[in-house]
Amino acid sequence: MRSLIDILDLSTEEIDQLMDCAEDIIANPELYEDKCRGKKLATLFYEPSTRTRLSFEAAMLELGGKVLGFSDGQSSSAAKGESIADTARVVSAFADIMAIRHPKEGAPLVAAMNATIPVINAGDGGHNHPTQTLTDLLTIRREKGRTDSLTIGLCGDLKFGRTVHSLLQAMSRYDGIRFILISPEELQVPEHVKTDILETGNLSYMETDSLMQVIPDLDVLYMTRVQRERFISEADYVRLKDTYILTPDKLKIARRDLSILHPLPRVNEIPSLIDSDPRACYFKQVLYGKYIRMALILKLLEVD
Ligand code: CP
Repeated sequence: MRSLIDILDLSTEEIDQLMDCAEDIIANPELYEDKCRGKKLATLFYEPSTRTRLSFEAAMLELGGKVLGFSDGQSSSAAKGESIADTARVVSAFADIMAIRHPKEGAPLVAAMNATIPVINAGDGGHNHPTQTLTDLLTIRREKGRTDSLTIGLCGDLKFGRTVHSLLQAMSRYDGIRFILISPEELQVPEHVKTDILETGNLSYMETDSLMQVIPDLDVLYMTRVQRERFISEADYVRLKDTYILTPDKLKIARRDLSILHPLPRVNEIPSLIDSDPRACYFKQVLYGKYIRMALILKLLEVD
């Protein structure tokens, strides 16, 4: 039985196979509509979510399965003090697979150690968000035609952005990747991400605080929201929240084949007037998230 807690739980071959499967689902959805008949997905969300929870639920429904769960930990017995370990054991009696989001880093791992069904990390604190990374990889592959030999700019909150940390991990395993990390000094990627990922792989990276200086070089621009919920000081959040706003002026000097990604939700960093720019991929990215989650559910449930 396999779980997905960290993107490195999957080899690059397995990630490529998941993307192939998602492509096949996109091309032939009717072949998949009964694949999970009789199976149940539990979604345990202790933190707010729109995309991840609903795309997991849509994914299971489109595979012919059923869904159960909660979207607020306070409505579960966690409010009475039940541990993640016990909750995982209990949910194992009701479902065939579970997706869990939790503010505490490591909570999905604890769930996986105690569950008797596959567990998927749907985001744990500022740590990891592996299914967002699968979504991002599928988006990059569909938009650029490859997942190697790319210059990728990651912009905004690189300190608390768990999607950034998972994406750096995953992309560092492909050849010819150059990361440009664009953030204010206070929101740079944590030191452990630099030593464990950026300084070990076959990639190059640079840090800057200027989006304007580097935007002409980028194949992919991955914008992120400043994560208000992870700041200790509201004053610091207010000072930093609008550091990067992607305006039409900035896009004038970007490549015509740039792909703009964002895990969403956005706040001010991408104004809605950018949405009609053909380079804006973030709503397509949402849809790809459902297909890659369908592929992942099939893999973890070992459905043919
Ligand atoms: N990208 C993402 O995780 O969105 P939600 O918080 O809405 O699930």
